Amino acid sequence: MPLVSMRQLLDEAAKGGYGVGAFNVNDMEQIQAIMMAARQTKSPVIVQASRGARAFAEDLYLFKLIQAAAELNPDIPIAMHQDHGNSFETCKSAIALGYTSVMMDGSLKEDGKTPSTFEENVEVTRRVVDYAHERGVTVEGEIGVLGGVEDGHGAGGTGLEHITDPDQAVEFAERTGVDALAIAIGTSHGAYKFNKKPDGSVLKMDVLIAIHNRLPHTHLVMHGSSSVPKELQDIVNEYGGSLKPTWGVPIEEIQLGIRNGVRKVNVDTDNRLAMTGAIRKVLWTQPEKFDPRDYMKPAREAMAKVVSERMTEFGQAGHAGDYTPIPISEMAAGYKSGKLDTRPSVAAH
Ligand code: G3H
Ligand code: 13P
Ligand code: ZN
Repeated sequence: MPLVSMRQLLDEAAKGGYGVGAFNVNDMEQIQAIMMAARQTKSPVIVQASRGARAFAEDLYLFKLIQAAAELNPDIPIAMHQDHGNSFETCKSAIALGYTSVMMDGSLKEDGKTPSTFEENVEVTRRVVDYAHERGVTVEGEIGVLGGVEDGHGAGGTGLEHITDPDQAVEFAERTGVDALAIAIGTSHGAYKFNKKPDGSVLKMDVLIAIHNRLPHTHLVMHGSSSVPKELQDIVNEYGGSLKPTWGVPIEEIQLGIRNGVRKVNVDTDNRLAMTGAIRKVLWTQPEKFDPRDYMKPAREAMAKVVSERMTEFGQAGHAGDYTPIPISEMAAGYKSGKLDTRPSVAAH
């Protein structure tokens, strides 16, 4: 099956009332782990690459691997997404490669660190939407700023500094026409999100619900959604790692989000922890090993297990065969005719 539009995946998820995990990849083993899990659970899936991932793997290697995944798994709808695009040029280059979806993260300036103004965000996101939709490609925007820093990307902080304002979310959706909207509700990237199990003072599910009530037809995106399970932390620490105690986003909060308009759930850190724990275990317990396959195979299996659990928890399991992929050219025609217009003033009618 060719790569599928992320918009179609999310529209189907909205119809079915489930969420779709968007899993970050940097290499072949991570792509294979996701596809193992998708096959096992019969799930549609979003695979995403950050700018750092594209640089690490070199664009062409990574994209050809995704094409191989699509060819080897004809029954699984796969959307290939640029995670946290920092500029029009980054998104344009992803589209040129064949990505079927891009995130224009205009919540930060092009440096990927400094929060931008609302007007700057609207302007650059609108420009990407015009360019991408003409080519049938999906666009995710972000309003509000996440906490933490990954690979140099992020404003830092706890995640509570720039919580999304629901009024601004409505104006942003109207003025940009994005297909999906990432919001900031107190989560941050990486392992260190919360210093205890989060409650409503730090994880603002009430804000998410307020936004969903104002934008019932908008696909919401939760970033920083790793749960950072204690079992995975423990494995890393048991075999020589030194993670400090930390808490992620509980699965039941993500499920509450999914009941309130969340259709895309971004997970990277949990997979990083799973792979690192598995690799550490081999190297710690069998120090004589030096064939990368001896530790990459268990690492891949550990990641597949996490991904398959998330696919079941988010509800996408079992939905791979629900629909026939719409060609990207047809998506472009749908945007042109206004059929796929998401602006709240239009979608409400
Ligand atoms: O945006 C956050 C993802 O976890 C990707 O992280 O930029 O280190 O590849 P990265
Ligand atoms: P985590 O660090 O919580 O896995 O978040 C990943 C993410 O939001 C990628 O964009
Ligand atoms: Zn993110």
